[in-house]
Amino acid sequence: MENKKISQHLENTLKHLYINPLEKCNLACKICYTKKTKFVLSKEAILDFVDRYQKVQKLESITFCGGEVFLLADFVELINELTAKNIFIQIISNGTIDRLAEIKEPNMVNLIISLDGLKDYHDQNRGIGNFAKSTDLLKKAIVLGFHTEIFSIVTKENLEQIPQFEEALATICGKKMEITYHPRKPRTYLKAHPISNILGTVKGFEFLSSQEINGLMKTKQTFPPQNLGCYQISLMSNGQVYGCCEGITPLGSITTDSEELINNLKNRLAIWDHKNYNNKCLGCVEKDFVCGLTDNLKIKKYENNS
Ligand SMILES: C[S@@+](CC[C@H](N)C(=O)[O-])C[C@H]1O[C@@H](n2cnc3c(N)ncnc32)[C@H](O)[C@@H]1O
Ligand code: SF4
Ligand code: SF4
Repeated sequence: MENKKISQHLENTLKHLYINPLEKCNLACKICYTKKTKFVLSKEAILDFVDRYQKVQKLESITFCGGEVFLLADFVELINELTAKNIFIQIISNGTIDRLAEIKEPNMVNLIISLDGLKDYHDQNRGIGNFAKSTDLLKKAIVLGFHTEIFSIVTKENLEQIPQFEEALATICGKKMEITYHPRKPRTYLKAHPISNILGTVKGFEFLSSQEINGLMKTKQTFPPQNLGCYQISLMSNGQVYGCCEGITPLGSITTDSEELINNLKNRLAIWDHKNYNNKCLGCVEKDFVCGLTDNLKIKKYENNS
């Protein structure tokens, strides 16, 4: 890889895995983009994948997402086994299922709770009473010594409320929280993605314009980040492995050699680097997709470059 910034970033990224063991959920959020499929990865299959990965690559952390991972009966057991191996765990959760007391090493876990804005707005998407449930869990997690963070979906309706949301959250939690803002996934994303769900307009949850997405990316921590670099080996519930949590073209499957998965990821980035789509950024492994934001990020399409 010629671009040193990308190759150094990749070295760090490889020390991390993303695992999505299921798509099922206890909530039915109005604008959730995931299809609720029946696939579930067993604890044994996950541990075997991690074990094989560790044989070829230093592993420091794993992010778990879903669906809602706390629905899995043996999820906490899995977390405890992984932290005992000195692997730092991040969990993206809706924060409505409280199994915190069963987690043995809170200091080895970063709980990322999704809150979509102030109480009424959050509950309009996630269901009445869920803002209180999730913020109660968050407060408890802070007291128990978990690392904590927030993910927050942004639409036209809550964009202007961000300052009030940040203030309210700081009051509830007793400290300023780290928040990553997720612009509601654009139609171009939803149309291209194999497990995306809602394409149409949902009343009260309008997509942001390109200008609004750009403004948000410049002023706040967002996903994807403004300079990209959000690739990671990502194992999904159907056993496919992608180059990032939003991938649409697999690198292989759960049975593919870890070394081959890593090489495939590197080759994807080498293509990005070679084509020099956006020499200021850290790259993306889905060159024709880029989270459906190619126009926003002023990234030249592959066809125009070949
Ligand atoms: C699919 S959820 C799974 C984890 C968990 N159930 C939760 O809600 O946090 C993963 C993340 O995607 C976010 N998300 C869901 N629908 C979205 C959408 N349409 N646009 C952007 N982000 C979305 C959620 O808020 C959450 O932070
Ligand atoms: S956003 Fe999370 S909590 Fe809401 S339905 Fe989707 S997976 Fe479930
Ligand atoms: S498609 Fe590209 S921008 Fe989106 S998460 Fe994957 S690597 Fe990041």
